[in-house]
Amino acid sequence: MAIFGTRPEAIKMAPVIKEIEANPDTTPVIVVTGQHQKMLQQVLDIFSIHPDYDMQIMEKQQTLSTITSKVILGLDAILDNEQPDLVLVHGDTTTTMAASLGAFYHQIPVGHVEAGLRTWDKYSPYPEEMNRMLTDDVADLYFAPTPLSKNNLLQEHHPESQIFITGNTAIDALRYTVHADYHHDVLTQIPQDHKFILLTMHRRENQGQPMRDTFEAIKDVVTHTPKLDVVYPVHLSPNVQTVAHEVFDGVSGIHLIAPLDVTDFHGLAAQSYFIMTDSGGVQEEAPSLNKPVLVLRDSTERPEGVTAGTLKVVGTHTDSVQQAMLSLLHDQKEYQAMATAANPYGDGRAAERIVTICKDYCSHKNQR
Ligand code: UD1
Ligand code: UDP
Repeated sequence: MAIFGTRPEAIKMAPVIKEIEANPDTTPVIVVTGQHQKMLQQVLDIFSIHPDYDMQIMEKQQTLSTITSKVILGLDAILDNEQPDLVLVHGDTTTTMAASLGAFYHQIPVGHVEAGLRTWDKYSPYPEEMNRMLTDDVADLYFAPTPLSKNNLLQEHHPESQIFITGNTAIDALRYTVHADYHHDVLTQIPQDHKFILLTMHRRENQGQPMRDTFEAIKDVVTHTPKLDVVYPVHLSPNVQTVAHEVFDGVSGIHLIAPLDVTDFHGLAAQSYFIMTDSGGVQEEAPSLNKPVLVLRDSTERPEGVTAGTLKVVGTHTDSVQQAMLSLLHDQKEYQAMATAANPYGDGRAAERIVTICKDYCSHKNQR
């Protein structure tokens, strides 16, 4: 049973579901919590995934407590009804953490896809660092994307025999979405001799002043740099929508658009000059697309991308964001080094490995 609820979980669980579907020995039961509505549906449509259960929990301005309690309560009947051999969750959202706990309460084993990412800072990202630690406390199988994430799990004394380095399924997903001849309407608004930056920003710890400071910095650079545009698909969270429109509305060269489906996002990312983001998933995808990323956060749980050279953590202060943008725009050597770094997140075959391990685990479990 795969349980997920938000856009990034769906994108990175999709290759695993496709692999389970393609395998004659395994049957997926797909449960969406509906923590996201529209942004989740976009992904389900692209990958032709049809949930068996939709818990439809989303509320405007939802709190972490309501998400958690609704997921745990809602899963009771579903888990009783289906009695799955294994529950799979992905990443670090509140759906992930609550679904793991729900499965544990039913004594059903949990496989954690993208296990072991850490910043070691409880509040950055918030609440995701704690969500993934709690999920790893409950999990029985750990699918660590890299040797570093495996090492993080070992440091917390999770059993080595249950940890598997698989690569990140984000890279598998790119195989389904990236097309060379991609076109989007927003591109017709950007003159051909302009460069454009693709921007996303949504994290809870950035909402409020950090987000406003970052947007002001970007506005200033775009206003003073000829032939530079920004494309920003704005997350549907009201806390993000409000600040984005307050700072950017009416600014020439800044294009606010609706959240893109994942094919569109990857298509635009591939044509951008560079990316600015506080997203987790985008940090993993960018090295495969050969795009430098300025990470709009104080820390990252993806240090592999920093070591490889693709990611630069720049924070959210106006000065540091401006300096990082100007440096990447004007220093060709820095740009080339970031754009040509190797992808540390795997070979695009993570889902295949995960499903093989799950099958093996379930057949041993059923023999006991
Ligand atoms: C959630 C995850 C975060 C992940 C992000 C991916 C938690 C606590 N946060 O954050 O880890 O990085 O998803 O995008 O699990 N909304 C809509 N329609 C949608 C989706 C969201 O209207 O399709 C609005 C709703 O008003 C909702 C708000 O966005 O209340 C916030 O959604 P929520 O899932 O609580 O937080 P995210 O910032 O999306
Ligand atoms: N993404 C998308 N449309 C957008 C912005 C992002 O499909 O308009 C994709 C992106 O390619 C990545 C994922 O959504 O795969 C990241 O999701 P998000 O940034 O919402 O969450 P995070 O990864 O930070 O948890």
